[in-house]
Amino acid sequence: MSKEIVDKASAVLGPRIELKTIAQGAEAVVFSTRVHPYLPSGHEDKKYIVKYRPPKRYRHPSIDQALTKRRTLGESRLLAKLYLLEGLNVPKIIACDAYNGFIWEEFLGEELPEGYGFSNLKNFLWMYSAKDRNPHDDVVKRTLIRVGQQIGLLHWNGYCHGDLTSSNIVLENVEGSWQPYLIDFGLGSISDSVEDKGVDLYVLERAILSTHSSYADQYNAWLLKGFSDIYKGHGKIGQAKLKEVLSRFNEVRLRGRKRSMIG
Ligand SMILES: Nc1ncnc2c1ncn2[C@@H]1O[C@H](COP(=O)(O)OP(=O)(O)O)[C@@H](O)[C@H]1O
Ligand SMILES: [Mg+2]
Repeated sequence: MSKEIVDKASAVLGPRIELKTIAQGAEAVVFSTRVHPYLPSGHEDKKYIVKYRPPKRYRHPSIDQALTKRRTLGESRLLAKLYLLEGLNVPKIIACDAYNGFIWEEFLGEELPEGYGFSNLKNFLWMYSAKDRNPHDDVVKRTLIRVGQQIGLLHWNGYCHGDLTSSNIVLENVEGSWQPYLIDFGLGSISDSVEDKGVDLYVLERAILSTHSSYADQYNAWLLKGFSDIYKGHGKIGQAKLKEVLSRFNEVRLRGRKRSMIG
C-alpha cells in the first residue's frame, strides 16, 4: 500500500480522521475509520468505510478529475437509489465528495472466527469448506439462498452489478443469521438488459467455481434457487422473465467455455 496515497487521503480529510487501510484495488483504496465525517465526536462505537479514488498521474489532470468525479458520483447515486429499494441490502451512504473522489458508507460485516478474515461471501465459504466443518450445513444453504434472493431483487428491479464476485458480497450477522449485502457498485448500472444479468450470474458462478470447486455445483444451485424465488414471486410475468434471464445465462456460459477452449 503506497504511503503516498494514504498521505494524499489524509491531506484532504484532515488529521482528525484516522484511516486504516482495508483493501487496495486497481481504481480505489478502501479505508475504515471510527470517525464520522460530519457528526461531532461521540459516535466512535461505529465503523465507517471510506472509499477513495486517488488521482492517476498517467492521466491528464483535468481528464482525471472529470473521470474521478463521474465515477464517484455514479457509484454514490446508484447506492442511494438502491438503498431505497424495499428488501434490498446495500450499505447506507453517509457522504460523498465527488470532487476529491471520496465515498463514505456504513461498515458492514465482522471478523470471522479462526482467522478466516472478514465476513465476505468468499471467506465465509472458505470457512465452511474447511475439513472439520460441514459445507452442506443448513447455515450455508440458507445464506446462499438469501444471496441469490438479493441478486434476484437487484435484477428484478432493473439494476445490474457489473462485478458480482464473492468478495463484493458481505455478510452481516443480524440476530444470529447471516444477511447478505451487495457492495462495490463502481461498475453497476440501471439496466434491464438480459445480457448484463446473464453476465452478473456468470461472473458469480465462475467466482464460486474457482475458489470453492469441490462444492461449487451445490453452492451455485442454492444461489440460483434464491434468485429464481424472487422472479417466481411475480407470477406469469416473473416466470417468463426468469426463463429469458436463465437462457441468456446459459448462452454466456457456452460463450465462456468456447473462449477457454480456444485459449
Ligand atoms: N460497506 C462496507 N463494509 C465493509 N467492508 C467493505 C465495505 N465496502 C467495502 N468493503 C471492503 O473493502 C473491499 C474493497 O471494497 P470495494 O468497494 O469492493 O472496492 P474495489 O473497487 O477496490 O473492489 C471489499 O471487498 C470489502 O472487503
Ligand atoms: Mg470490490
